[in-house]
Amino acid sequence: MTPENDKQQRYALLLQQVKGLIEDETDLVANLANTAAAIYSAFDHLWVGFYLVKTTSDGKTNENEQLVLGPFQGPVACTRISLGRGVCGTAWAERQTIVVPDVEQFPGHIACSSLSRSEIVVPLERHDGTVWAVLDIDSQRLSAFDETDKSCLEELCRLINLKT
Ligand code: SME
Repeated sequence: MTPENDKQQRYALLLQQVKGLIEDETDLVANLANTAAAIYSAFDHLWVGFYLVKTTSDGKTNENEQLVLGPFQGPVACTRISLGRGVCGTAWAERQTIVVPDVEQFPGHIACSSLSRSEIVVPLERHDGTVWAVLDIDSQRLSAFDETDKSCLEELCRLINLKT
């Protein structure tokens, strides 16, 4: 089996698993936590997790909203990211998936771990198109993410969006 076929097969199983995990559960945090764990278990990624768009109340910034760390698997990570900052904040601002083959080449990349070499961030949107969260995945390998990851993770995020 080619590495690409292997990846597609893992995603097919993962999508079925996530569907099963979230279909009877209405709690969003529980669903995000199990989804992060399922992705983390299916691949050898460094970090898998969600950042949630939240109204800021820390009094430290003038902005109304920030991404705040949500359910994740992997090493500890930075807790708050502003709109347009780093890969996560850029995916939020542009409302589109961003694949970063080499994090050192992405201006403004936020290095939560020095081990991270490549990254993919998928925004999760409400029916009206506003972003309520992003899925962020980091790899220790360069160029770990391709079109298969993009399309399969976007499909996975649509499953979660149906629960909102
Ligand atoms: N690298 C991300 C920050 C989050 S950590 O990778 C978990 C970014 O540039 O937005």
